[in-house]
This record gives sequence, C-alpha cells and structure tokens, in this order.
Amino acid sequence: MTTSIRPFLIGALAATAVPAMALEPDPIAGRGVYETLCASCHGDEARGDGPLAALLTVMPADLTQLTAQNDGVFPVIQVIRQIDGRDPMLAHGGVMPIFGQMFDFPDAAIASEAGQPIITAQPIADVTAWLETVQE
Ligand code: HEC
Repeated sequence: MTTSIRPFLIGALAATAVPAMALEPDPIAGRGVYETLCASCHGDEARGDGPLAALLTVMPADLTQLTAQNDGVFPVIQVIRQIDGRDPMLAHGGVMPIFGQMFDFPDAAIASEAGQPIITAQPIADVTAWLETVQE
C-alpha cells in the first residue's frame, strides 16, 4: 500500500490568515445543510437517532453532547475533520460518508476553540456553527 502524504490537517485547516473574501459561518444555513446531509443518521434534533441509525453497525453520535464530552468546549476542529472526511484515521475506519463535495463551495472562516480562524468550505462552516447552537 502506498502511503499517501496527506497533510495531517486538511488543506482547508492549514490556512493561517483569513482572506478578505472569506464569509462568516451562517448557522441558519447550517441547519439546512444538516437536514439535507446529516439528519438521516444523526436525527432531526442531532441526538443520533435518525431513521438510518437502525441500519448501521455503529451508532451515529449524539451531536448535542460534543461540548459536554469535551470539557465544556465545543470541539470545532474535531467536528470539521469528521465532516470533511479527510482525517486519515476517520477516512479509513469511519462509518460516516465522505462529504468532499462540500468543498466545491466558497470558503468561510470559523473560529477554532483556541480562537484562530479556520478556513473551510461554507457548508461545513455553516453546519459546524449550527451544531454549536444545539449543544447541551
Ligand atoms: C450514514 C450515516 C451518517 C451520516 C449521513 C452522517 N453521519 Fe456523522 N456519524 C455517523 C456515525 C455512525 C458516527 C459515529 C461513528 C464514527 O465516528 O465513525 C458519526 C459521527 C459523527 C461525528 C463525531 C462525533 C464525535 O463524538 O466526535 C460528528 C461531528 C458527525 N458525525 C457529524 C456529522 C455531520 C455534520 C453530518 C452531515 C454533514 C453527518 N455526521 C452525517 C453517521 C453518519
């Protein structure tokens, strides 16, 4: 097997500066992204109980608990890496579909938990911003 030299952090995460053009994440648009691409497995309220969950061998995560499971900090980078599917570990062992098609959208900037801007595709930033609003 050839070891592909994928950057450990996705290219989108590698950017260090916010280009003037980068858009703000929009949690309301993110709700729409979620309904289209995520709710079938993770459930309407993001509790991991979507209609496809019964068919999976691994239960979809309850996405309302991400902050609670991360010492009270919403794990922005972890969420983005899970969605974009480019984390080598997740891409090879994970159950989630790869949403690479989201990268065809313009970039947006979202603040990481440490405060630095992360550049990623608009729908990924949007759905991440929406997920942050449903944390318990
Ligand atoms: C085909 C079903 C399916 C779809 C569709 C799906 N997921 Fe998942 N997701 C899973 C499963 C199963 C897991 C838990 C197992 C794993 O991590 O591979 C998971 C895990 C996650 C995690 C990691 C949670 C943690 O505890 O770290 C996040 C974040 C996540 N999904 C977000 C999303 C988002 C956002 C979408 C839509 C863009 C989405 N998922 C679409 C099945 C799905």
